[in-house]
Amino acid sequence: MAKIKSKFVCQNCGYETSGYLGKCPECGTWGSIVEEILDEEKKSSLIDLPDKNPPKKLSEIEMNSEVRMSTGISEFDRVLGGGIVQGSLILIAGDPGIGKSTILLQTSGELCKNNKNVLYVSAEESISQIKLRADRLEVKAENLYIYPQTNFELIKKHIEDMKPDLVIIDSIQAIYTSTIQSSAGSVSQIRECCNSLMTLAKTNNVSIMVIGHVTKEGNIAGPKVLEHMVDTVIQFEGDKYKTYRILRSIKNRFGNTSEVGIFEMGSKGLKEVINPSELFLKEYNQTQTPGSTIIVTNEGTRPLLVEIQALVGTTPYPTPRRVANGVDLSRVLQILAVLEKRIGLNLSKQDVYVNVIGGIDVSEPSADLGIALAIITCVRDVVFDSHTAIVGEIGLSGEIRAVSHIDKRINEAQKLGFKRIIIPASNEVQDNNDIEILKVQRIIEAITRAVSK
Ligand SMILES: Nc1ncnc2c1ncn2[C@@H]1O[C@H](COP(=O)(O)OP(=O)(O)O)[C@@H](O)[C@H]1O
Ligand SMILES: [Mg+2]
Ligand SMILES: [Zn+2]
Repeated sequence: MAKIKSKFVCQNCGYETSGYLGKCPECGTWGSIVEEILDEEKKSSLIDLPDKNPPKKLSEIEMNSEVRMSTGISEFDRVLGGGIVQGSLILIAGDPGIGKSTILLQTSGELCKNNKNVLYVSAEESISQIKLRADRLEVKAENLYIYPQTNFELIKKHIEDMKPDLVIIDSIQAIYTSTIQSSAGSVSQIRECCNSLMTLAKTNNVSIMVIGHVTKEGNIAGPKVLEHMVDTVIQFEGDKYKTYRILRSIKNRFGNTSEVGIFEMGSKGLKEVINPSELFLKEYNQTQTPGSTIIVTNEGTRPLLVEIQALVGTTPYPTPRRVANGVDLSRVLQILAVLEKRIGLNLSKQDVYVNVIGGIDVSEPSADLGIALAIITCVRDVVFDSHTAIVGEIGLSGEIRAVSHIDKRINEAQKLGFKRIIIPASNEVQDNNDIEILKVQRIIEAITRAVSK
């Protein structure tokens, strides 16, 4: 009889212990530790890999440049670093309903057009549900195989028999391996299945895309463990109630990270957005109000214009509220501290809300000056010039610090019809006669040049 062993695993971070604990010592979550039963004998037979690759001298290793396969969707290819690398394991993560199944079904359709074989493992939806979606998306594909299955061993068998060019697992939370007795979706199951998929991808040289739902805490598949195990992590973001979606690469063993691709969701599926800045600024000119500015952020290798809005008002609370959507709250707090210390703007009795329009996350410090000017124009109740874009990081002494890729940002602003751009004085720029460049050294200078007219 197989030896049965159990362990206790945190469902949030994957921490393991031999006994029950009320609070996870690793991530501090309460009540997240669950007993999971492991079948030791079966497990060891599955994990042993054939020793095909003995240690080799570096000088003797031959270079075979990675083979990439286009998804047929150029924005998706770009995020992947130029297409799907053969034999790689790619995680597509995102909230339920964001469009993960949609984009992968569309990708399957495109690949089949190029005579590739695709195996779509549907562990969540029935065959007829997939068929219905395929009809709606107008995906007509000869070589697309739909396989409704949740058992990993059966999936594995079909992958090995069929050797498709691409396998899609929809989703990792819904499949299980019989070597582990805990239910599908538990940390042990996810980890085990993901590990086995990785081995499968490498030994058979097939590319596998795995869908993972993000929990409400924002962790991929509950545990962060998944992220470390795969080659590439693509995050699907966006406001579920709006039509655009953002694909972002957050880990890539074969390419640039922080690359983004932008799509619009319609009844025929996801459509690429060729000029995303235009999309983000669509509502800008019609709704000119105090407290709104345009910044040029840099996403991956592409500059992007987005609108920042700030709202400042007297607080009804004992401690004023600070709310940030799309920008880092600690960044906003730092900017407020600098504004108070360096230009005497006292907001200790005011609530401050900062929002990035369009549901995109701006994590770059180059947004600082735009945020500061949005707050200041709101406080002073003046409208910021709608033809001026802003870039610049704010240092603690109120100095404006240089940002990366300044020429790209300037060109993007000019392309979208901006007449002026405020940039850090320390940035070296190429001549550009089509847009006025205002260089500022300190925050106070930016205010006088941009606001007090
Ligand atoms: N008939 C439809 N017309 C337009 N959009 C639809 C239709 N059906 C579904 N959608 C869009 O597709 C989304 C679901 O996409 P799906 O790929 O199933 O998400 P996920 O796999 O990430 O959970 C819905 O949130 C909706 O935006
Ligand atoms: Mg789905
Ligand atoms: Zn934990």
